[in-house]
Amino acid sequence: MVATSDEWIRERTGIRERRIAAEGETTCDLAEQAARAALEAAGVAPSELDLIVVGTTTPDLIFPSTACLLQHRLGANGCAAFDLNAACTGFIYALASADAFIRAGAVRRALVVGAETLSRMIDWSDRATCVLFGDGAGAVVLAADSKPGVLATHLHADGGYKELLYNPVGVSVGFRDEPNHGVKVMMTGNEVFKVAVRTLDAVVEETLTANGLSKSDIDWLIPHQANLRIIAATARRLEMPMERVVVTVDRHGNTSAASVPLALDEAVRSGRIRSGELLLLEAFGGGFTWGSALIRY
Ligand code: UT7
Repeated sequence: MVATSDEWIRERTGIRERRIAAEGETTCDLAEQAARAALEAAGVAPSELDLIVVGTTTPDLIFPSTACLLQHRLGANGCAAFDLNAACTGFIYALASADAFIRAGAVRRALVVGAETLSRMIDWSDRATCVLFGDGAGAVVLAADSKPGVLATHLHADGGYKELLYNPVGVSVGFRDEPNHGVKVMMTGNEVFKVAVRTLDAVVEETLTANGLSKSDIDWLIPHQANLRIIAATARRLEMPMERVVVTVDRHGNTSAASVPLALDEAVRSGRIRSGELLLLEAFGGGFTWGSALIRY
């Protein structure tokens, strides 16, 4: 469809494969699969949930929220449910929000999902973006406990960078008389790249300092999966060998809010991450938004 090559994509991004939702398959369909797997792993019934937060930029509908659609599918009707749009940082924002509800004593069990069908907002004639994104979903269940699992979260945003990464249409500004109603990801990739590396460096440093940790205390880095070169730069900053970094960008591409929980899920299910280890999750995305979560597994 565009002038590109497998070699260019592999060398510049690290992506070898990605997944695209089937025709008619929606973000909620993917979220439901991830949610059921997470609930099963946690041994929690949907009826025990007090809160569902879905980080997504690609909801099924404008409303009801994907979280409400998901709640009904799961049969968890009655609990609080909302979507959260922080682009690729959506899961970290959703996790931090659910954690805050739990810490405040308002909620005992929360389902946190990152789910996207980014393929639906791609301009397939734009080689700068159409080779990067994939669809997916990942989920976790949080529960109140005397020993915290989520030790700390750090969230940031800077709306001054809108022009570097955005989708130009929407309900309020209107849609366009263009293919796909003008819905498309617009990205100045190399500029985003530079800010992402700089910003992720800063949030990693902030997380270590604020929590009195040194680099060697972190057992696993679970980064947003946008580009292998960005992931490697953060790992270098942490003086962390790539064996301690969870990489799935090669198989999933950039799945936006789904990328961190997908990577977490893969590393946990494969048995690589063990009980008691310290995980540093981080992400950067449109907004710009960025953030981290420090987790004792
Ligand atoms: O997830 C949310 C945040 N997003 C990100 O973190 C993405 C950050 N950015 C990136 O990952 C990288 O900037 C990209 C993978 C998007 C692009 O890689 P790059 O090394 O920064 O390339 P570039 O944009 O500087 O372009 C280099 C060249 C250009 O050609 P010229 O001007 O040097 O002749 C592009 O036109 O590569 C060309 N190019 C391509 N060539 C083949 C751009 N896209 C493609 C393509 N195939 N798909």
